[in-house]
Amino acid sequence: MKKLYIVANWKAQKTSQEARDWLEKFLTYNNQHTTINNKEIIVCPPYTQLPMMRDFVKRNGLPFKLGAQDVSPFGMGAYTGAVAAEQLKELVRYVIVGHSERRRHFGETDVAIADKVKLAVVSSIAPILCVQGAETPVPEGVSIVAYEPVFAIGSGIPDTPDNADMVAKILKERYALLAVLYGGSVNSLNVSGFTQKEHIDGVLVGGASLEAEEFLTIMHNA
Ligand code: PGA
Repeated sequence: MKKLYIVANWKAQKTSQEARDWLEKFLTYNNQHTTINNKEIIVCPPYTQLPMMRDFVKRNGLPFKLGAQDVSPFGMGAYTGAVAAEQLKELVRYVIVGHSERRRHFGETDVAIADKVKLAVVSSIAPILCVQGAETPVPEGVSIVAYEPVFAIGSGIPDTPDNADMVAKILKERYALLAVLYGGSVNSLNVSGFTQKEHIDGVLVGGASLEAEEFLTIMHNA
């Protein structure tokens, strides 16, 4: 059975109270019916929720790891507004890097993305690099890639499992990757179509991860 990565990307959503409600629901429903066996579950909330969530996960033995949604391309120092990998490593094992929303709204370049990857790896945080197609460069040090075609993000129109599998195959031929995930309008009804594909090793889930019950169903159905 291959290892699957199921990643939740909350983006800039949820207040502290909403994050706590999600965790309480996850705790309740998880005890009832979810098996995770071969699955690495990773939840990426906004920075502001990370310390509270780390404590909650530890206290209640929840079966997922935490990730961040971004990391500074610089180390610690005079970089107002940034969070460095050395700081993040106290809280997370993973970080999403190069999401198309960061490229589009924050002007993130391939050069900055490569710097982020480098610093994450030095701090023992595994980067989950988002690529928009097989042509997006994958910097050295990346072993998990998420293929996320821009048209599929938040649109309710996912790519086809066949096409996503073809892109995953090309990426694996081109780079030494441990895992290629698919992201873009994944939900509990379509997730297995992707995870059953030969070259796809999991999913990156935005909107459908915001409800705990739906996310648990995705974990279950994957
Ligand atoms: P979506 O977002 O699942 O809401 O389409 C995925 C992502 O942007 O990572």
